[in-house]
Amino acid sequence: MSLTKLKSFFKRHSFFLYTFSLWTIYMVLVFIEWKHGRLDFKDVNFYVLLLFFTFFEGMAVSFELFVARKFEKDTRTEIMFSTGVIINVLAAAVLRPGMAMLIPFFGYLPLKYKVLFSEKYLYFLYNSASLGIITYLTSILLHFTFNALGDNILVSTIFITSGSILYFALNILLSIFFVFAIYGKISKDLVELVTSEGKLFNVFATSLNTLIIYVLYSYIGIFAIPLSLFTFITIQLSNYYATKYRNAKIELLMALIKSLEEKDPYTAGHGEMVAEISSKIAEKLDFQKKEIELIKIAGVLHDIGKIGIPDIIILKKDKLTEEEYMIMKEHPKKGFEILKQINEFEETVAKWVLYHHERWDGKGYPEGLKGEEIPLESRIITIADVYHALISDRPYRKALSKEEAVKILKEESGKFFDPKLVEIMLDLIKGGKI
Ligand SMILES: [Fe+2]
Repeated sequence: MSLTKLKSFFKRHSFFLYTFSLWTIYMVLVFIEWKHGRLDFKDVNFYVLLLFFTFFEGMAVSFELFVARKFEKDTRTEIMFSTGVIINVLAAAVLRPGMAMLIPFFGYLPLKYKVLFSEKYLYFLYNSASLGIITYLTSILLHFTFNALGDNILVSTIFITSGSILYFALNILLSIFFVFAIYGKISKDLVELVTSEGKLFNVFATSLNTLIIYVLYSYIGIFAIPLSLFTFITIQLSNYYATKYRNAKIELLMALIKSLEEKDPYTAGHGEMVAEISSKIAEKLDFQKKEIELIKIAGVLHDIGKIGIPDIIILKKDKLTEEEYMIMKEHPKKGFEILKQINEFEETVAKWVLYHHERWDGKGYPEGLKGEEIPLESRIITIADVYHALISDRPYRKALSKEEAVKILKEESGKFFDPKLVEIMLDLIKGGKI
């Protein structure tokens, strides 16, 4: 077999080979523990933890299925922590390392055994071996420090927290290593996923939850686990419904803007196009995924305030009178009032919408802000909004060609628009991206 053939063989079967190596390590570790007589199958705690692992992870799986069935896409809520992780860290602290490492595999087995007979069997094997190894390493380290520093409640408190953090750190390292082994490169999305705020919060929440259970466990024993986990699941459920409620509000606004745009055939789909162009500019500026999501929402909803403007003005084909124009100019403020009803939008989407008619030279409205006083996101929406309006038909003129629109962008650079954004727009247009 030639070297290139060997390479392509590895590339094609990399996931299999990687999982196979992990399993080899996992089995060797189990064997060593068994050989040294450290696998204590008489430990009742092992079975109790196993039972809780299966029970609570089973609940989580059926909850996810319930969500998926009932509400289709886009309603995924951020799961703050997995009960499985908590039980793994507890197992690492309570059981001997050799026994702790068996918990993820035997815990998931009753839930996922069917996967073993499907084409996704590798995912199950990869997960159980990697979680097993991570639990083992966490347990070794926890026992080492317990032995060195004594097993009182204060020391336990500190080290159970370190245990959870360590568990996460190892998990992240192994995931990165995994992606690197399979794809040969680390993608930007992965780094973002690993380092995002949510992830850090997740580590924090899990550490805290594990700590609370562990302290309770020291006083009331194994019953601490169901007692605490049920409480946490309740919190998670209320978090889920809060997210659902917020999404429902956004969906309602999306429906409103759609009905508003469709009253006038010239503006149908305008918001979505502004969102599309804005997100491309934001990508060029290396905005994070979450910010791009928000700017898209602001793009779609930028003219939501027109709901509060009489139809007779919005649908008027001729030039607006001075007085009508004054009323029309109220729409960014009205949009702000509507959008700030969603708490997390007050400082973001609502504010950006408020300033989407400001101009770089300070001649815009409602406040006449100038240059960088205008939020960057608003400046992005402005240029996307104007550009899309230029290349669309209007009652009083035909759509301009891209060349004519480019000419206007250049002329208005430093006047209407932020010159930096004009450059980016020209690049995007030239590259055929918009
Ligand atoms: Fe507008």
